[in-house]
Amino acid sequence: MKQLVIKGKKELNGEIKISGAKNSIVALIPAAILSDEGATLYNVPNISDTKSLIDILEVLGCKQEYRDEVITIDTSNMKNKVIEENLAKKLRASYYFMGALLAKYNYAEIYFPGGCNIGTRPINFHINGFKKLGAEVIIEGNKYIFKADKLKGASIYLDFASVGATINLMLAAVKAEGKTTISNAAKEPEIANVAELLNSMGAKISGAGTSEITIEGVKHLKWGKVTVIPDRIESGTYIIAGALIGKNLKVSGIIEENIEALLSKLNDMGVDIKKENDSIIVSKPKEYKAINVKTLVFPGFPTDLAQPITVLLTQAKGTSILEETIYENRMGHVPYLQKMGAKITVNDRTATIEGATPLKGAEVVATDLRAGATLVLAGLVADGTTKINEIEHILRGYEYIVEKLQNVGADIRVVEE
Ligand code: EPZ
Repeated sequence: MKQLVIKGKKELNGEIKISGAKNSIVALIPAAILSDEGATLYNVPNISDTKSLIDILEVLGCKQEYRDEVITIDTSNMKNKVIEENLAKKLRASYYFMGALLAKYNYAEIYFPGGCNIGTRPINFHINGFKKLGAEVIIEGNKYIFKADKLKGASIYLDFASVGATINLMLAAVKAEGKTTISNAAKEPEIANVAELLNSMGAKISGAGTSEITIEGVKHLKWGKVTVIPDRIESGTYIIAGALIGKNLKVSGIIEENIEALLSKLNDMGVDIKKENDSIIVSKPKEYKAINVKTLVFPGFPTDLAQPITVLLTQAKGTSILEETIYENRMGHVPYLQKMGAKITVNDRTATIEGATPLKGAEVVATDLRAGATLVLAGLVADGTTKINEIEHILRGYEYIVEKLQNVGADIRVVEE
């Protein structure tokens, strides 16, 4: 098994360039199949989720070439196929092929999706929306079958501003007859990124990025192209690393307004942050103020940064409260931070952190993607050596994380256990 081994307390200085967003690319690749011709995607992160989705493209008969962060996908000879369990369960985002295949063929057969174990993660909002568009949904064992004579535009209200449901229903509606509206839509930046690709193909989507999205169905979609936006969660993770143990660490290629909530919280903690064009320059302050954090849908504080910022809260003098409102089980990192010396108590979805506590290196396990990233951050600031197991979770969402951190002074390496 591979392990990440980190010798802590090495000051981080230099520049980290942010990659394309995981939560964009995992929707853009399924969206690409909607074109009758194909698509070119730029700034594609070389992470395992990208490879998992390319495997599904190949099952569907798409020709694709992925080189130097650019994917070219030719859909002219693709065929509808069952998306088998071994592929579908590799990641949650395989479910975007439901909306895409239903829109393209009025039929889709796909096994249940996978994803981080951070909660039950039902897809009822997706299913209800597909039904509103005229699809019949059949569950056979742990496989979904979606079929429709014809998809017709509908008015869809989401009980919760779900990112996945918003994108999946946008995909399903682009070729439906007539107009579809999605109300209480999610506003995460990745949604506008997907709409940008679809509109480049000739789709008629307006309002993406707001809570009201309108889609006018079209018959044909031509070759599309889009540049994947920078990953706001990767940006936030490295900015927190700089706040923990950086000296003028430059995190470049970011979109500031996509991480406003984090920057505001770091400011409240007394972290030294300078903004320079599309970069943030961050240094460890003399001390940190304890704060409270509550996760919300965009533009609120992102749930994906709640675990990473917890490491910073362990270094703040006083009591910090972190309330997770999006998922029911996002505390996989806590037992391991406690093993490293953190004083955290959890009550349901709320973590209370008493600081400041020095952290010491230990052997730990990544339970999910963001918990894994959190343990990397803890290892960087801990005294001694930290060994992280099950690092495949981390490699799903952080392109070249080891190289990026080594380049700015971290003592981090992958070893075969
Ligand atoms: C996306 O997940 C991201 N994943 C998540 O990032 C992110 O945490 C989440 O959005 C919120 O921002 C991808 O984009 C691949 P949701 P998604 O639908 O779409 C419940 C990471 O670490 N819900 O907004 O699954 C659901 O259980 C990952 O990169 C239903 O109840 O998130 C959750 O509690 C983790 N029924 C809440 O809504 C549904 O039909 C938010 O889910 C759909 C969702």
